[in-house]
Amino acid sequence: MKLWGGRFTKETDQLVNQFNASISFDQRFYKQDIRGSVAHVTMLAKQGIISEEDKTAIIDGLNGILNDIESGSLKIDDTQEDIHSFIEAVLTERIGEPGKRLHTGRSRNDQVALDMKLYTRDEIIEIDSLVYELMCVLIDIMEKNTETFMPGFTHLQKAQPITLAHHMGAYFEMFKRDRQRLSDIYKRMNYCPLGSGALAGTTYPLDREYTAELLDFYGATLNSMDSVADRDYLIELLSALSTIMMHLSRFSEEIILWNSNEYKFVEIDDAYSTGSSIMPQKKNPDIAELVRGKTGRVYGALMSMLTTMKGIPLAYNKDMQEDKELTFDAFDTVKGCVNLFTGMMKTIQFNADVMEKSTRHGFTNATDAADYLVNHGVPFRDAHGIVGQLVLFCIDKNIALDDMTLEEYKAISPVFEEDIYDAISIKTCVDKRITIGAPGKDAMDKVITLNKDYLKANKTIV
Ligand code: ARG
Repeated sequence: MKLWGGRFTKETDQLVNQFNASISFDQRFYKQDIRGSVAHVTMLAKQGIISEEDKTAIIDGLNGILNDIESGSLKIDDTQEDIHSFIEAVLTERIGEPGKRLHTGRSRNDQVALDMKLYTRDEIIEIDSLVYELMCVLIDIMEKNTETFMPGFTHLQKAQPITLAHHMGAYFEMFKRDRQRLSDIYKRMNYCPLGSGALAGTTYPLDREYTAELLDFYGATLNSMDSVADRDYLIELLSALSTIMMHLSRFSEEIILWNSNEYKFVEIDDAYSTGSSIMPQKKNPDIAELVRGKTGRVYGALMSMLTTMKGIPLAYNKDMQEDKELTFDAFDTVKGCVNLFTGMMKTIQFNADVMEKSTRHGFTNATDAADYLVNHGVPFRDAHGIVGQLVLFCIDKNIALDDMTLEEYKAISPVFEEDIYDAISIKTCVDKRITIGAPGKDAMDKVITLNKDYLKANKTIV
């Protein structure tokens, strides 16, 4: 059934029907469409626009449709134009006359704006809870690894010693910001467009505040043209989702490196690895690679959405129907990636001894050797030069700074004494870094406590 056949004298071309239809993808918000319609007719009856009997018949009819779709006894007919037409058609077929009153004082423009917001709101909560679970796994790794030493890198060159807890903690902070972004977006978008009509409101005495309240919005939107034409919240959200993916992608890249034969910092669990069809020895980090790869897809959705919206005059235009497929794909992609990544991190093994050995053999304590000299009165620039000579000496002999004899130290600078070994031990190097945010155990323990409090106080974003 078409909702708009009246003024036409010819059938629509079959290809036009197919090109125009959105039911293949908007059927996923049937539940939100029904919820919106129930709120709308409840309000229509309260305002005396339809009778109480019609309201009851419509609501019962809609609930019946909802049950039948969920039980599988009512198949969504994809020859219909969209989910709105489908539900209205089935309702009218089932309850007759009252069904035809459902759309009083409403347009598909405010209806679809509402459905998309209701659906998106639920998705934000779900994505947020998945990020939350990942953060719980990370805090667990952090708690257990405040003394698991590893090299910190800059330019992918070993730089200074850190701990695994500190490294994981960096991602923890990123995901915390990601959740804050989701929360901000939720708060900004949570106003109800229903009652805006096609673009200019309606002449019926609708109570928009009432429907907004029934649907758990903070209130009604304040401009009917903007209400049907606004997709800003999707753009913001796709940007936030792109940032989540960027974080996951960087994390994936590190896991892939750490899992390589050259690093061997981690061992991905068999359940989260894949093999090669030809090389029997292979155990590949496909999950991390796929997460890294799928990041491009979510960025693509953001760029598509921005480009689609850039030239659209007010108010509703059919271009906006394009918001759905790419947004839904981004939701599915992000949920899949966060979920799989969490499973991978929950089961991954860290090779603490390999990490520590790598820390020792990369001169990550060179800065601390220079600081030792500074503490003994040598100007920093001179100390930097002296330690440079030590490093050169070690490279030549293929040893670590810790392996040099005191005589060898003294030959380069007489300032060195026996306590140099303690000063440059990896544990000392890390433990001396005590400012908040640094890897030293005391500082890290404080941050872990703060972050555990955060997790307790922020289980959900709303
Ligand atoms: N399927 C349409 C969309 O997703 C619903 C709104 C249709 N409105 C219209 N005026 N044709 O945007």
